[in-house]
Amino acid sequence: MSNKKRLFIRSWGCQMNVYDSGRMADLLAPLGYAPAEAPDGADMVILNTCHIREKATEKLFSELGRLRKLKEEKPGMMLAVAGCVAQAEGAEITARAPFVDIVMGPQSYHKLPEMVARISRSGGVAIETEFPVEEKFDHLPAEAAPQGVSGFLTIQEGCDKFCSFCVVPYTRGAEYSRPAAAILAEARRMAAQGTREITLLGQNVNAWHGEGAEGLAGLLRLLAGIPGVERLRYTTSHPRDMDEALIAAHRDIPQVMPFLHLPVQSGSDRVLAAMNRGHTAEEYERLVDRLRAARPDLALSTDIIAGHPGEREEDHQATLRLIERIGFAQAFSFKYSSRPGTPAAAAAAHVDEATKDRRLAEVQELLRTQQADFNAGKAGTICDVLVTGPGRHAGQIAGRTPWLQPVHAFGSSTLVGRIVPVRIVAGHPNSLSGEIVEQEKDAA
Ligand code: SAH
Ligand code: SF4
Ligand code: F3S
Repeated sequence: MSNKKRLFIRSWGCQMNVYDSGRMADLLAPLGYAPAEAPDGADMVILNTCHIREKATEKLFSELGRLRKLKEEKPGMMLAVAGCVAQAEGAEITARAPFVDIVMGPQSYHKLPEMVARISRSGGVAIETEFPVEEKFDHLPAEAAPQGVSGFLTIQEGCDKFCSFCVVPYTRGAEYSRPAAAILAEARRMAAQGTREITLLGQNVNAWHGEGAEGLAGLLRLLAGIPGVERLRYTTSHPRDMDEALIAAHRDIPQVMPFLHLPVQSGSDRVLAAMNRGHTAEEYERLVDRLRAARPDLALSTDIIAGHPGEREEDHQATLRLIERIGFAQAFSFKYSSRPGTPAAAAAAHVDEATKDRRLAEVQELLRTQQADFNAGKAGTICDVLVTGPGRHAGQIAGRTPWLQPVHAFGSSTLVGRIVPVRIVAGHPNSLSGEIVEQEKDAA
């Protein structure tokens, strides 16, 4: 009898959850678990959850309802809930879904093999939602499945900033920076496995202050020295931690891409103060000026929250005006969602749903136009495109520009992993289409 077991992992939320799901699969691989495409018939199902907005939590419970049936059909199936909902709502999960075998927070998943062994041996339930004293990263395997041409690498985790609206400091815990040596070893391994673009992850990635390098700028410099690492990105940054050295890194390190996700949340100083963001709208704009002075082709992306408690019409207008002045290439915008235990949830003046909906629609309309304009502006230019895989149609390849825009072009799949010049033919709302430029031989 084969001892191959099938593992299905479903991830919601941020890119760090995607990274964590990969690491969970790496932890379970030595136990004989291989990835499955669907939960049906799987021996183990892990739901890696997100708590950031209310909807995200609801999704978990509706998914658990469906999985309960699968578990009834296959009683040996192990069901685990990981991630930020597990951390925040462990007790509610075990109460509402007693058929769940494992509940583990983001800082405890390195104990997964031990939990699986214990339950296989003696049954019962495993719950790990205390923040462990040992560092998770010290217990993750050195072996990992390849991530493909573009991959994630967590360098920093947790948050000490406590924005009024946000659950992350409670679900991910205090800020921790991995040492440079561990990060470099992981990056070298990724490069050897064919990853050409590495996105460094952290809830406050630019607050990285690990051993072995001088801040994130110093770390980027070391990473840029690894053969095969052709593109570097990092996310998510906080405006308060964007220091001079990091701004200069965008000018001086060719591998650092001219694209930065820099959440502003609001354009109103009153709301920014209520959010505990620690900067004004003016300070954000001057920071963008300095970034653009260092790297004139830098494109910006942001996050906006519509309808934070206390947001008045004039605050909303200030947000629209700030967006107009900056001009974002891309953005995520959300309707404020009240999260239990956060200071904003306890605030007196909540904005009514209809007003939040209308403000969000106005913000999104403006951001959509800016993104479409940015994409249209690339038509006629030649962009360096990192080919990440086959395209949607036969004979096509898909890739990304330095500004993170998805590109489709006709070309051979032998180009996957290479950076090729592409003449952009058209800019669409969410992507670009282009033609690969035939390399001119002996141009000199
Ligand atoms: N660490 C990052 C972002 C973390 S969460 C930062 O500092 O910006 C990603 C985004 O979700 C946030 O930037 C914010 O725009 C949004 N978000 C967080 N909590 C929210 C809430 N309660 N309601 C609506 N949006 C929220
Ligand atoms: Fe949440 Fe603010 Fe921390 Fe970002 S900086 S994770 S929004 S508390
Ligand atoms: Fe969600 Fe946790 Fe990430 S709440 S956004 S999965 S840090």
